[in-house]
Amino acid sequence: ASTLGAAAAQSGRYFGTAIASGRLGDSAYTTIAGREFNMVTPENEMKIDATEPQQGQFNFSGGDQVYNWAVQHGMRVRGHTLAWHSQQPGWMQSLSGSALRQAMINHINGVMAHYKGKLAYWDVVNEAFADGGSGGRRDSNLQRTGNDWIEVAFRTARAADPNVKLCYNDYNIENWSAAKTQGVYNMVKDFKSRGVPIDCVGFQSHFNSGSPYTSNFRTTLQSFAALGVDVAITELDVQGASATTYANVTNDCLAVSRCVGMTVWGVRDSDSWRSGDTPLLFDGNGNKKSAYTSVLNALNAG
Ligand code: G3I
Repeated sequence: ASTLGAAAAQSGRYFGTAIASGRLGDSAYTTIAGREFNMVTPENEMKIDATEPQQGQFNFSGGDQVYNWAVQHGMRVRGHTLAWHSQQPGWMQSLSGSALRQAMINHINGVMAHYKGKLAYWDVVNEAFADGGSGGRRDSNLQRTGNDWIEVAFRTARAADPNVKLCYNDYNIENWSAAKTQGVYNMVKDFKSRGVPIDCVGFQSHFNSGSPYTSNFRTTLQSFAALGVDVAITELDVQGASATTYANVTNDCLAVSRCVGMTVWGVRDSDSWRSGDTPLLFDGNGNKKSAYTSVLNALNAG
């Protein structure tokens, strides 16, 4: 196959990208995105500050723009994200306790009702674990509402739309040896044992010199899959875009039957949140980089 999406589809997987609504008027951008990918994650448009800027007043204009573009191009959509300590609107930042807990529930219900039956996946909870060696939860206003906030979010989400796959998504959980990875693993194991509805785990995979790719990523994907969840690479970018690292990540996903697909966090280097790292598959002029060829070849060989 000659595109990333078609090559991934040969093994029943998807290959996606983050899409920014503000770039949909750039034809160089939409030409590449429309050709190469078959899954879309709105980069910012379905976050809490975008979808509920005032409490109880929902705004789906940006989210719908990205959703409609994806559907018009035959692509599916991963919703991102419903409960997160970051990108909270001011009104939510100032809430705590039971008022915040209820606001989180209302937010999940309001956004999921709008997109009910339309999305393939939702990142229900994003980045809830602490960095460093504790393996525990990140301190946040949501965490301070009680340790059960994550399972409440997942149970609320399941009731709101029983047909979308519900994911936990985080970064720096690719290295099997990391305490953060083990913390998330233990949460998912606990959720599965107690029947908390979780279908998938997203490994953001923002690799750089401080948090490099490690070859035990495959062990991580296999270990989580063995708990009975799908796994996915959800925000891939690699500082410097090493072709070898991109191939390794692709081969790790292909080696795990429950690895359902991969998403890169942007189209061209110039579209990246870390554009200075030139971490993506296309350069600023839209040319395919060596990392592109190495991913495509790995997908075609797998
Ligand atoms: O749209 C406003 C614009 O009007 C304003 O002039 C400008 C001034 O700063 O800001 C613009 O908003 C920015 C937005 O991106 C759109 O470009 C925000 O400031 C900026 O904070 C926001 O950054 C996003 C970041 O998440 C926010 O947390 C990045 O685009 C986005 O790539 C990044 O994505 C996250 C994932 O959601 C979760 N995992 C990590 C990943 C990378 O940080």
